Amino acid sequence: MIILENLNKHYKSVHALKDVNLHVNSGEIFACLGPNGAGKTTLIRIVTGLTRLSSGKAFLNGFNVEKSPLAAKKECGLVPQAINLDQELTVFENLDIHCRLYKMPAKKRRIKIDDLLDYMDILDRKKTLIKHLSGGMKRRVMIARALTHSPQILFLDEPTVGLDANIRRRIWAIIKRIQEDGTTIFLTTHYIEEAEFLAQRVAFLNEGEIVALDTPENFMAKMGVWAIDRLEESNMETTYFKTRQEAKSFIVEQEKSFTLRRVHLEDVFLALTGKKVK
Ligand SMILES: Nc1ncnc2c1ncn2[C@@H]1O[C@H](COP(=O)(O)OP(=O)(O)OP(=O)(O)O)[C@@H](O)[C@H]1O
Ligand SMILES: [Mg+2]
Repeated sequence: MIILENLNKHYKSVHALKDVNLHVNSGEIFACLGPNGAGKTTLIRIVTGLTRLSSGKAFLNGFNVEKSPLAAKKECGLVPQAINLDQELTVFENLDIHCRLYKMPAKKRRIKIDDLLDYMDILDRKKTLIKHLSGGMKRRVMIARALTHSPQILFLDEPTVGLDANIRRRIWAIIKRIQEDGTTIFLTTHYIEEAEFLAQRVAFLNEGEIVALDTPENFMAKMGVWAIDRLEESNMETTYFKTRQEAKSFIVEQEKSFTLRRVHLEDVFLALTGKKVK
């Protein structure tokens, strides 16, 4: 369980998080969406102990991240936004260093690493140097590394950035499986369909504030079910409808070309943040 109470973060002149209140339930996949600079990474850095909060409180499974940082850290694993594996070491060596930091005995380390690499479907790359892996494999090594100490909560900061559609879906399957094994997952992403597919609940963060929080289904239902996109003086205009019949009546009045489609979570993102995604 993740609890944030009136969380604020100031970086000199930047107020990166503004009175954030959040309650992430045990066992759920929770997605945090928001435009560049919204504060997503800052939030993760605070709860994983990488940066100090300015005011407010944060708890991981009941442990206060400021007052009991070591206990809180044991509860969580982190896959950071940027790949920070040691490129000159092998897959095994990268994971082994991490296990040693958690003081795992040698035999347990070997078993755990083999298990995790097998789980991620990259056991055959155990002795490969990181610099010789593809981007998708590196991401899987990062996820394996974050799971070495069997954390209850996993933070994934843009876990599929830069990956092709196939590999992204493979990572989605892995994330679902980690949840099924009982882990709470907090992820950030710019791929809105990723949140739509994976998350039970989604929060939209904009300029450091949570502007909306709900299930993907509820968000989309509030927008409507059907959407019509049309070009108006080089701007894309979208109109939303509750029923197909309403959409059809609107179509009859159209002179220009248009597209009729189902509503996506991306419509909610654009309506709430007023910005295009990456
Ligand atoms: N170490 C830092 N020093 C000063 N300002 C920072 C620092 N880290 C982040 N910021 C600022 O805090 C704000 C939030 O940044 P953050 O990286 O949390 O956003 P984000 O939502 O993760 O963005 P992105 O989608 O681009 O990853 C931005 O204005 C950013 O410039
Ligand atoms: Mg970020």
